[in-house]
Amino acid sequence: MRKFSQILYIGLVKPILFLFPPDDVHVFFLKVGRMLGKYESVRIFFSKIWSYENRALEQNICGLNFKNPIGLSAGFDYNADLVEILPSIGFGFHSIGTLTHEAYGGNPLPMLARLPKSRSLLVNKGFKNDGVKKVLSGLNKNISLSLRGVSVGSTNKQYEDFESMIGDIVSGFMDAENFADFDYYELNISCPNLLNLQNLKEQLASSVGLRQLLINLEQLNLQRPVFIKMPLERNEDELGEMMQVAKDFPLVRGLIFSNLVKDRKNEAFNTEEIKKAGQGNFSGKPVEEKSNQVLRYAYKNYGQRFVLIGVGGVFTAEDAYRKILLGASLVQMITGLVFMGPEQVGIINKGLVALLEKDGYHNIQEAVGSING
Ligand SMILES: Cc1cc2nc3c(=O)[nH]c(=O)nc-3n(C[C@H](O)[C@H](O)[C@H](O)COP(=O)(O)O)c2cc1C
Repeated sequence: MRKFSQILYIGLVKPILFLFPPDDVHVFFLKVGRMLGKYESVRIFFSKIWSYENRALEQNICGLNFKNPIGLSAGFDYNADLVEILPSIGFGFHSIGTLTHEAYGGNPLPMLARLPKSRSLLVNKGFKNDGVKKVLSGLNKNISLSLRGVSVGSTNKQYEDFESMIGDIVSGFMDAENFADFDYYELNISCPNLLNLQNLKEQLASSVGLRQLLINLEQLNLQRPVFIKMPLERNEDELGEMMQVAKDFPLVRGLIFSNLVKDRKNEAFNTEEIKKAGQGNFSGKPVEEKSNQVLRYAYKNYGQRFVLIGVGGVFTAEDAYRKILLGASLVQMITGLVFMGPEQVGIINKGLVALLEKDGYHNIQEAVGSING
């Protein structure tokens, strides 16, 4: 059934959707997903045809029970429209946001474009969202028991100085603490679309800025695990310094590798497509190689200290498995979902079980980091 609906998606639905501007298609999906998620019969139907369960995929991480290691990455469901429907598609977890303390209108349109030959999306969102309080007060009780995370970050507005930017992020966390119906935090320090970050002397995604932010967050005594969303285009020394800082803060339980690509010389781009691309940064296959490299580095040096989450260019079970073998306990995706269709989540999970069996592993945890000695 999954294969059949994939043929339908790739052969019929996607070509139609790709005729329309991606911003409109995204809004359409959010509306339809929100509406469909309200009906139990629809959720059961999707779950029957798409999701895949197997004990070998289950893990307990930071006290949370993950039914499978595949999650929706931050940036697809800003305002928590899809929280009801996503678990039935088969995700083991999903991240809402990135949310900001106050509602934010995002960057001027277009915020999205497609690069099909490069298997990538051009992203220029700037965190268009309704703000932490409004979004989280609209969350229903978690009937599906699927794990939900909330990604919090700063906006693109002009802050007076670095302290006010940090204050804004901390206020977002303070607001989120008043809500119960989610399980983990993402701290987004790495969105390359936030242009004002580049104008501030100390950037968030540096060891100095990160330490200052974490000292402030520590005061909140957060009870849920925090995973930091790391930047992609930093060298190993810079990343090593950031991890060295993060390791001293017990609230930081994990690291996510990585956010979007800025570098247009990245070899995964189709040269014609990248020449025509507008303002923004890129997801998908151009993220994959570098994010795998830094994942490998992080596991070797800090695999005992942090839970690692791999993201970037996951389209197939093999892509996800590669990240797991390099050290990721969990894997996230967005672009693969857009290009391959919603049934791909179940296809990846089923494929992972076959790959684990082929290599003689009984559970996903046995495979984590096993090619990264
Ligand atoms: C449309 C879109 C919006 C995104 N917005 C965010 C965001 O708000 N916060 C964030 O941490 N990452 C954001 N990202 C980055 C993704 O979470 C992910 O790190 C990146 O796209 C690589 O994964 P992928 O290749 O599976 O898409 C966004 C990505 C896309 C495609």
